[in-house]
Amino acid sequence: MALGGAATLVPIVSGLVVWTDPLRSGSANGKASFSRITGLESLPADGVPRKFTVIADKQDAWTKTPNVPVGAIYLSRSAKGDVTAFQSICPHAGCFVEFRSAKNEFFCPCHNSSFFSDGSINDPRSPSPRPMDTLAVEVRGNEVWVRFETFQAGHREKIPTA
Ligand code: FES
Repeated sequence: MALGGAATLVPIVSGLVVWTDPLRSGSANGKASFSRITGLESLPADGVPRKFTVIADKQDAWTKTPNVPVGAIYLSRSAKGDVTAFQSICPHAGCFVEFRSAKNEFFCPCHNSSFFSDGSINDPRSPSPRPMDTLAVEVRGNEVWVRFETFQAGHREKIPTA
């Protein structure tokens, strides 16, 4: 009887372990990891934001695809050497924001939100409910690493997407 119970339970428990793997592995808990974006030599200390593609492993439930483009960010480096990262997705409704170097501002062409180069809203008529979303940055030696994540559009607060 005990052997029969064990023979039944082992495949059931094994199946549950595999089935719930995404819930336990971090792919579904919203935790983003850091990705190497560029070297400091590619980021002049002039405060001008520059756009970079983020290459990272993409985890989709049970499928992991290594080294694929997962999004884009802007990086700027101040004269003091501080590096700031901005998500390129507009907080209003999710369009891509462009940087207009002639005006030294970010601009979203979908509904005309505009932001100063530090990410703050520069036009009170901008429909965006919050400034551009910043991302965590780590300078490791001569490399810039960013924790790439996305946030829900349309809210005043920065709420990470699941
Ligand atoms: S999506 Fe950017 S202003 Fe609406």
